[in-house]
Amino acid sequence: MTTLDRAIPAADRSGVFITLEGPDGAGKSTLAKIVADRLRTEGFEVATVRDPGGTPLGDRIRSLLLDRSDLCISLRAEMFLYMASRAQLVDEAIAPALAAGKIVICDRFLLSNVVYQGYAGGLEVAEIWRIGRTATRGLTPDLTCVIDVPREIARRRVSGPRDRIEDRDEEYKERVRGGFLAAARGEAGFPGEHTGTIRLIDGSADLDTVSDRLMCEVRDVLAKRARS
Ligand code: TMP
Repeated sequence: MTTLDRAIPAADRSGVFITLEGPDGAGKSTLAKIVADRLRTEGFEVATVRDPGGTPLGDRIRSLLLDRSDLCISLRAEMFLYMASRAQLVDEAIAPALAAGKIVICDRFLLSNVVYQGYAGGLEVAEIWRIGRTATRGLTPDLTCVIDVPREIARRRVSGPRDRIEDRDEEYKERVRGGFLAAARGEAGFPGEHTGTIRLIDGSADLDTVSDRLMCEVRDVLAKRARS
């Protein structure tokens, strides 16, 4: 272990770390807000963040990555920019919130990097996990909910101007969906550290149904934590 990837000590992780993942148009951001509001109403302290972004540096990297411009960004550089935003997010927002005992709800995390730049983009998946471990100081979610929607529904939901990633072709987006499904099913390339912590949620139902399902998963994790 080096100064670069020194793990966050267990004692500094009294909070609960929940990530929402899935293709564009799955409804994650709306769901993150609903779940956070419901948990706050129940008296929990909740921090919501998004990846990329969530810090002043991360927001600037997010603009670089998503704004449509003629700036040339290679796939490798793209992968590292997402990692840089995430490293800052862990150091500046997630780790302190977990140390303070909060529930952190993060809209995307390392799995998106593995799926978008690795599984769909073509960079080696195992290498992205490895780099990701350094970038996140080994922080893995207590629960990852993958919200899945068929492409037709996702297409309808992503209306208005598309960002640089949303602008990619249909085959890329199919591979992104396939990557998240493979991860949720624990298929090859998705390592053991996620086993047992990923849940697949059908995001095509109405918002109340999907958010109820999500809340069930969150309650399960909170109950397990309370027992341990
Ligand atoms: P968002 O609009 O869901 O916040 O996500 C921003 C876009 O960035 C979305 O198209 C997914 C993409 N993305 C990656 O390609 N790699 C990553 O590591 C992350 C976190 C997001």
